[in-house]
Amino acid sequence: MKFLLLLAAGLVLATAAPGQQVPAASPRVVCYYDSKSYTRESQARMLPLDLEPALSFCSHLVYGYAGVQPDTYKMVALNENLDTDRSHNNYRTITNLRSKFPGMKVMLSVGGDADTEEVAKYNTMLESPQARTAFVNSGVLLAEQYGFDGVDLAWQFYKIKPKKIRSTWGSIWHGIKKTFGTTPVDDKESEHREGFTALVREFKQALSLKPMQLSLTVLPNVNSSIYYDIPAIINLVDFVNLNAFDYSTPERNPKEADYTAPIYTPQNRNPLLNADAVVNHWLQNGAPANKLVLGVATYGRTWKLDSESEIAGVPPIHTDGAGEAGPYTKTEGILSYPEICAKLINPNHQKGMRPYLRKVTDPSKRFGTYAFRLPDDSGEAGLWISYEDPDTAGQKASYVKSKGLGGVSIVDLSMDDFRGLCTGDKYPILRAAKYRL
Ligand SMILES: *[C@@H]1O[C@H](CO)[C@@H](O)[C@H](O)[C@H]1NC(C)=O
Repeated sequence: MKFLLLLAAGLVLATAAPGQQVPAASPRVVCYYDSKSYTRESQARMLPLDLEPALSFCSHLVYGYAGVQPDTYKMVALNENLDTDRSHNNYRTITNLRSKFPGMKVMLSVGGDADTEEVAKYNTMLESPQARTAFVNSGVLLAEQYGFDGVDLAWQFYKIKPKKIRSTWGSIWHGIKKTFGTTPVDDKESEHREGFTALVREFKQALSLKPMQLSLTVLPNVNSSIYYDIPAIINLVDFVNLNAFDYSTPERNPKEADYTAPIYTPQNRNPLLNADAVVNHWLQNGAPANKLVLGVATYGRTWKLDSESEIAGVPPIHTDGAGEAGPYTKTEGILSYPEICAKLINPNHQKGMRPYLRKVTDPSKRFGTYAFRLPDDSGEAGLWISYEDPDTAGQKASYVKSKGLGGVSIVDLSMDDFRGLCTGDKYPILRAAKYRL
């Protein structure tokens, strides 16, 4: 029976000539919804209702994230209580939003660096046809059961090694070992590449019977050259989200801050670590431009400056680890856009409060915005942030347009200013990107 189904799927694939694919009428705006935002507190808590002001701008809503059960390799809800239990049933609540936004496709994304239990399973699965079958069958069932229009594979491949920092600053080696001692090296790269190609093919066959969409999300710092056999998979997927950001993060680079999501290579940096390099790699390997979607992060990466940091603030700059957690997102080294804008403009600035950050824009429109504050006399409160704002998000959208790419993705909606606290407009980063497409 299964064989017959596969055979039928093969026929469907074989008869659909590539030219018959309906071209996207307008560029995609792929909006990620990180369900973790449901459990944040106070102003950062995002309920499905809060999504609505965004959705008229979104061609796709991507629910992040489902996971993989370690022993069975089944695709499962990562947070059953929130996602699928009757009390919240967030999967169903989110797919039901389509009744108000009928043109929007709702995808279920798996992985996304949100699945932290036994992460090696994303690789071992690729080595086993049985494990892949278990994953595909359960994934199609899960997505279908809750009314999703398709599945997004945000595969948790091993990441490239972080840049080595010149060892001029004392205990750097210690810092590197502490952070990266556990970074695994993949000694089965080509097996994983082939296994992923097989997985995409198998998933496509299973979904095309429905029919449902299939997309890929290339996670930050995953090397496309190693894991993605572009000519073999590009015709099997509807689009590919290139999460070309987080090139520099305080976890990866605790002692040196740098632009986290440049469009082009800043001087004297690795020419492969920027959006344009990744886009060109996919184009040069035969990906049609209109299938490539460029990711725009809505959060900033933060580092502590200390007395050894250059006072001009220009990156790359010496730092002392991750900046402190924000009041709402409560994660070291990360601030949401509204948390950042509150540090830039503060009309209720009171005595005793820390001074504003100085914002430094990039007139070349190539590298992005940063903001910083030097440490005070007691060496405290130094901060350096690389982040996306509405202007730079618009610049990325213009880049997408000039290259004829398939759209932008917003990663994610809950870190954009969904309450309109910065200037009164809700979702300023999403809007800016949409308007410049
Ligand atoms: C990605 O892999 C290719 C092929 O192994 C290699 O040449 C390239 O340097 C890698 N890119 C990065 C950023 O490490």
